[in-house]
Amino acid sequence: MVEVKQLKKRFDRQTILDGVDLTLRDGEVLCIIGKSGTGKSVLLKNIIGLLKPDNGTIYIDGEEITQLTEDELNTRVRTKMGMVFQYGALWDSMTVEENITLALKFRNHFTHQERKKIAQESLELVGLSHIAKEYPDELSGGMKKRVAIARAIAMKPKYLLYDEPTTGLDPVLSNIINDLIIKLNRELGITSMVITHDINSVEKIAHRVGMLYQGKIVHMCDAKDMWHQDNEIFNKFIHGDTQLK
Ligand SMILES: Nc1ncnc2c1ncn2[C@@H]1O[C@H](COP(=O)(O)OP(=O)(O)OP(=O)(O)O)[C@@H](O)[C@H]1O
Ligand SMILES: [Mg+2]
Repeated sequence: MVEVKQLKKRFDRQTILDGVDLTLRDGEVLCIIGKSGTGKSVLLKNIIGLLKPDNGTIYIDGEEITQLTEDELNTRVRTKMGMVFQYGALWDSMTVEENITLALKFRNHFTHQERKKIAQESLELVGLSHIAKEYPDELSGGMKKRVAIARAIAMKPKYLLYDEPTTGLDPVLSNIINDLIIKLNRELGITSMVITHDINSVEKIAHRVGMLYQGKIVHMCDAKDMWHQDNEIFNKFIHGDTQLK
């Protein structure tokens, strides 16, 4: 379980996160929605320890992580937590397979052959075993996202944080990614937190959905009940109301 309590983060004079409280329950897919620029990516980066909060606490399986050193984060947090970055963050000068094996090299002591085998298995899981020797810039946007997911699951994470995995993809590709998120959750039991603008995706993949607004989680509900809520901000957002400030 991941518990975020009263998380605050500011950059210069701008307060981005102003007391975020949320719980990611074991086994679930939790979607976080919110307008562009509200701090969704900043929230994920705090959870994985790439940014340090100014205030508040983050517990991962009961361990408070905000005061850990970079080494402690690497050994205790990032081993069980994978992140699929908003823009994929693949290394263009390396093949798909090398992107995955290099990531594994940083984390553990597998032999070269073992790393290649894990890379191949991860690519199979995302349906891309045939492109191991290709370079990221030869791939479509949807394939790149799937490679980024393969790289994250190669670490066998307990938790996977996805930053806008379907943004910029057409509806068919979006569904391929949605199906993959569901499959990894159900078949591998990966607890997932998914940042998205895409209400269709929320309906398909989420057990619960929360909304980040003006630095706080202003509403959280079961995804199946999302169209019957009495929170005005949440309702405006999911209906795409242009009046929402
Ligand atoms: N490292 C940083 N230094 C300074 N400001 C930052 C930094 N990272 C993010 N910000 C600012 O924090 C705010 C929130 O950014 P963030 O990327 O989290 O938004 P977002 O909700 O993910 O938006 P989008 O939906 O467009 O991805 C923005 O105003 C951004 O400029
Ligand atoms: Mg973002």
